[in-house]
Amino acid sequence: MKERIEELRGLLNQYNIEYHVLDKPTISDAEYDRLMRELIDLETKYPEFMDPLSPSQRIGGPVLDEFTKIQHKRKMMSLGNVFSEEELKSWAKKIEDEVGKVEFCAECKIDGLAMSIEYQGGNFVQAVTRGDGEVGEDVTQNVKTIRSIPMNVSYREEFEIRGEVYMPKSSFEALNEGKRQQGEPEFANPRNAAAGSIRQLDSKIAASRKLDAFWYHVPDGETYGLKTHYESLMWIKDMGFRVNENTTLFQSIDDVWKFIERMTIERNNLPYEIDGIVIKVNNYEVQEQLGYTVKVPKWAIAYKFPAEEAVTRLEDIFITVGRTGKATPNAKLTPVRLAGTTVSAATLHNEDMINQKDVRIGDLVVVRKAGDIIPEVLRSIEDKRDGTQVPFIFPTLCPDCGMPLHRFADEAAHYCVNSDCPSRIVNSIAHFASRDAMNIDGLGEKKVEQFHKMGWLNKVDDIFKLKEYRDEIISLDKFGLKSYENLVEAIDQCKSNALDKLLFGLGIRQVGAKAARILANRYKTMDALMQATLSDLITIDDIGDITADAIVTYFKEEATLRLIDSLKSSGVNMVQESDATIESSFTGKTIVLTGSLQRFSRNEAQEYLEKRGATVTGSVSKKTDIVIYGEAAGSKLEKAQALKIQTMTEDEFMEIVEREA
Ligand code: IVH
Repeated sequence: MKERIEELRGLLNQYNIEYHVLDKPTISDAEYDRLMRELIDLETKYPEFMDPLSPSQRIGGPVLDEFTKIQHKRKMMSLGNVFSEEELKSWAKKIEDEVGKVEFCAECKIDGLAMSIEYQGGNFVQAVTRGDGEVGEDVTQNVKTIRSIPMNVSYREEFEIRGEVYMPKSSFEALNEGKRQQGEPEFANPRNAAAGSIRQLDSKIAASRKLDAFWYHVPDGETYGLKTHYESLMWIKDMGFRVNENTTLFQSIDDVWKFIERMTIERNNLPYEIDGIVIKVNNYEVQEQLGYTVKVPKWAIAYKFPAEEAVTRLEDIFITVGRTGKATPNAKLTPVRLAGTTVSAATLHNEDMINQKDVRIGDLVVVRKAGDIIPEVLRSIEDKRDGTQVPFIFPTLCPDCGMPLHRFADEAAHYCVNSDCPSRIVNSIAHFASRDAMNIDGLGEKKVEQFHKMGWLNKVDDIFKLKEYRDEIISLDKFGLKSYENLVEAIDQCKSNALDKLLFGLGIRQVGAKAARILANRYKTMDALMQATLSDLITIDDIGDITADAIVTYFKEEATLRLIDSLKSSGVNMVQESDATIESSFTGKTIVLTGSLQRFSRNEAQEYLEKRGATVTGSVSKKTDIVIYGEAAGSKLEKAQALKIQTMTEDEFMEIVEREA
């Protein structure tokens, strides 16, 4: 029996690495669960073969009273910071003045908490937090629940590695969603959530938090025969530890800076948060030569991204009503600089959020901007209240049309259910005309609002009747004959758009640009789609129950049928050209695009490929035929290389595009 137990442990450990480290599972979840159940059954039957490092023990263990304090064998240092190109370059210059030209290793500064882990005889024995750098806490039980950390490795000598435990953005969102539903306070950011999870005395809670880790430092690497920092990372990577895929060597600090600029944008697409880039001198001997200050190594530095949080005054709260009728509370802020732009408004999401955060008008508030996401109010600063602050009472009437706002039983949002509400009308027409939908140049939100006020635009199909108001439009302030002619031309042109653009433009609940494309390619005509039943729709990959239901409901409505008829009689195209497939070397291929392309936008490249009969997907798997990559391509490219999938640079792609033009 012992053999079978050991065999199962070996298999499960291997599958764990494939799934959590290499991101390429070779067995199904069901098969994994079956083997795990068999192992747990055998371990229960034969407790004499129990092993605390068994893969069955990753779900958490006994509840602790407190964490034991542990003295680090070697001090856990932190890093000096720089905040600009100038500071970074002067750090590098000082180094090169001292020791001559050096090679740099640049890597993501993972926003989590530093951790040291130790192995003896090939087994994981201990995990300790950084603490004050000298003494940390023994969090072995909690760290053991992180599936990507191998419990057994081939190297038998004692060794320690260091890295960062963090909470992936997706785990963070899910955790806070749960907290919201339970009415419990949410975590402010993934770092706090990770730290809170590692500090749990009950490791079952830590296990449920879905933490992960990257490893970036091997103390005293030269004792293992290694010559450079990068070699040390490759050594532990080969052993099965996760090493960040963006780690790159550079021969000059100018190139490091270009990498930083790229990552400043790319960070928004990463599934984890980073708060900067760490730059290290690669060669161990040179590191030794440079040495340490009392607190930090001189051979490494952290470049910190500009703050994405700022403090400002919440002057007022106003409600905006979107095309679905959703009434969103927004903060009017005293303008403040935030990550390179000036912010004067931010979302407050919904009534519960305002109450939960106890945000009051007049408060000083912390505002955050994450990438291109709309800025949000994170919290208010209660200590700074002077008694003039007033709590916000959510209005009962729509600020635009004056009809009652409704809050449905299972939703946090309020809705204006009046389908004639001007805000709803203006926003749905503007959405129809927007770039990714029907792309009617010259018909932005402001114009739609103006035309609506004049009584010319009340429904989407009124767009095609605007010509009736030619003279009135031309005589509008700042709207000459030329603008009118351009607008009419854009409206005429949009009639021949493919069906997917129209479908997206209609603003059917749950149907975004991607779902619209899938539906159009599948049904080819509006009529066929309108006949589709719920059971037809749910058989389509990527169309879930809720979306299917929304589509069926939408096409049952009287108003929809009237609208479609009217659009048809205005000459709007209702088919997805099927003969549009242009034969090319991409036809029939499954393709993934990654990194930032210079000559194509992602959408354009995708459209180009789809027109040629290729399927463009978001993730690399065994089914992928080609991965086309631009600058700063990360894990997808690595995965493609590991799976031996054909890869293509943007230049190579362009060569084919030009050849086949
Ligand atoms: S190197 C002697 N590399 O940033 C080497 N640190 O501000 C010391 N961190 O305490 C650390 N990502 O918690 C290093 N790629 C990375 C890192 C990283 C995140 C954290 C770490 C450290 C803090 C310093």
